[in-house]
Amino acid sequence: MSYNFLDKIYKSNSYSTSKELYQKWAPSYDDELTENKYVTPLRCAQILSYYIKNKNIKILDIGCGTGLSGFALKKIGFKSIDGLDLSEEMLKIAEQKKIYQSLFNLDLNNPTDFNHNYDAIIAAGVISPTHANPDTILSSYSILKEKGLMIFSINDHALNDSLFFSSINKTIQYSNFILLDQIYGDHIKELNIKSSIFVLQKSN
Ligand SMILES: C[S@@+](CC[C@H](N)C(=O)[O-])C[C@H]1O[C@@H](n2cnc3c(N)ncnc32)[C@H](O)[C@@H]1O
Repeated sequence: MSYNFLDKIYKSNSYSTSKELYQKWAPSYDDELTENKYVTPLRCAQILSYYIKNKNIKILDIGCGTGLSGFALKKIGFKSIDGLDLSEEMLKIAEQKKIYQSLFNLDLNNPTDFNHNYDAIIAAGVISPTHANPDTILSSYSILKEKGLMIFSINDHALNDSLFFSSINKTIQYSNFILLDQIYGDHIKELNIKSSIFVLQKSN
């Protein structure tokens, strides 16, 4: 089983190293993740469809990468999906798939004026040490409609990082989000890594 970049990304200890790794990883990302049975995107999409039956809602896939998460949303039947990512190379692959209506090249750690009104935000594999920081949860609040959902995964590496995980919990606690659910399950099956998927709802 190959886990060339997966191994490197989990060992990466800085945001800039991770950013460089994704630029190089882009052409082989889908193959490596598919081979290792990465299931978090499908779990996020299934959870969203459990909470929202209307498949025409407007969704923003943050840290969309090459589009595996958008692909999972589309497979479940969602039709209106935008994507956002830091890495131009990952976005180039996503664009070729024609899943997303709009793609944005932005850094979640540098919030800008992003004036949108989404029904749901999905963040699969992006809120993590050396990736997008926990404040991403707060910045998501302002671009969601009333009662909108923010669904994000936190993998075992991040769950076991006590500083990072306590920051996630504090951010949720002090936000205006209501925590609807937290579901632990498979993340990358071949590596026996799991993730918790959080479901937050905008309260007003
Ligand atoms: C593990 S991949 C997940 C991609 C996709 N969601 C999936 O499930 O396959 C993490 C993605 O988050 C992006 N990313 C990491 N930090 C980010 C940040 N601060 N702002 C925006 N995107 C970021 C990376 O470029 C990469 O494409």
